[in-house]
Amino acid sequence: MTTLADRFRRHARMLPDGLYRTLMLAMAEDWQAGGVVAEICRDWADAPGSAVVQLRLMAGLQRLVLSRTEPQLAVYYPNLGGTASPDGAWQDFEPVLRRHVDELRAALEVAPQTNEPGRSVPLLVGLFDAVRRSGLASVRLLELGASAGLNLLVDRFYIAGDGWSAGPATSPLRLTDAVLGPVTPVPYTVTDRRGCDLAPIDAATTEGRLRLTSFVWPHDLHRYERLRAALAVAAEHPVPVDAAPASSWLAAMLSPPAADGTLTVVWHSITRQYWPAEEIAATSGVLAAARRRMPIAHVAMESPVLVDDRAEGEREYRPAELTVQLSVPGALADPAPVLLGTVADHGVPLRLAT
Ligand SMILES: C[S@@+](CC[C@H](N)C(=O)[O-])C[C@H]1O[C@@H](n2cnc3c(N)ncnc32)[C@H](O)[C@@H]1O
Repeated sequence: MTTLADRFRRHARMLPDGLYRTLMLAMAEDWQAGGVVAEICRDWADAPGSAVVQLRLMAGLQRLVLSRTEPQLAVYYPNLGGTASPDGAWQDFEPVLRRHVDELRAALEVAPQTNEPGRSVPLLVGLFDAVRRSGLASVRLLELGASAGLNLLVDRFYIAGDGWSAGPATSPLRLTDAVLGPVTPVPYTVTDRRGCDLAPIDAATTEGRLRLTSFVWPHDLHRYERLRAALAVAAEHPVPVDAAPASSWLAAMLSPPAADGTLTVVWHSITRQYWPAEEIAATSGVLAAARRRMPIAHVAMESPVLVDDRAEGEREYRPAELTVQLSVPGALADPAPVLLGTVADHGVPLRLAT
């Protein structure tokens, strides 16, 4: 039977040398020795691998540092400018875990959640394809599993590639050279935008921003900077994200007739792999029914692999796929999703299919 220590070690082995790898290995030892990690994780010994207890604990710890509750640990966090070697870091972290047992136990209740603005790149390329083929440039954007809704702000980010660009050049978030292959941008206007999530995060609150940031690995400087920039945009332009599961929310959104001449774009990224089979089937059913009534594009950046505990840690890596399925009643209907390219997990780079 796989223990938490096994899980910490297995996860550590997948990470580059650095703070998280060092801490996860030390935590595995501590758990086995019945130390403070065992005390904090005592209710989680039988949790499935998909609960990723180790990431919950690391995020709880990072929140203590980001919120300056334990500011002396910032020297170990590259995203906060820290340059201290992680060797021997455990002796500084262990007393912090001891001081915050209750808080870290509460942190284990918080499921990992990231909102990756780099995914705006493939989503935008999918949107370009749908606008170009439909000839409809007025877009109503609906996002499933939107987290804090950062990708709904796609038109407020500067996104550029070889010989093309979209969005304001002054945007705090600049995503450049993120597409391998030719892109022809098309003009479009977002007339309405809204998302749903089982557990939405409010990017307008300190707590929401802290939560999202705490799940970004501290050695992932690009992601940290992207998130910081996107949160700055969200602070100026809040987007509504309703607390609801994908299929029932989408059914409610698509039940009134769409405004004439509007293209409804339903998109999602790295969420479907977490949906139960009934949710996937129900969402497909809602989309299929809506295709007969309104111009609609389904843009997805999703992994072809579903989360599967049995194969935990042993799954063959397969990149996410960017697909578009477009229908305009009386004019065109893709019989199946069209594969535009493959994408790294965090949205960049997008490698276009040839
Ligand atoms: C890995 S995050 C991705 C968030 C965002 N789509 C992105 O790409 O940055 C997965 C999100 O899916 C949400 N989620 C999981 N199951 C869901 C469901 N059945 N309906 C709606 N949202 C769901 C989670 O709460 C989480 O915010």
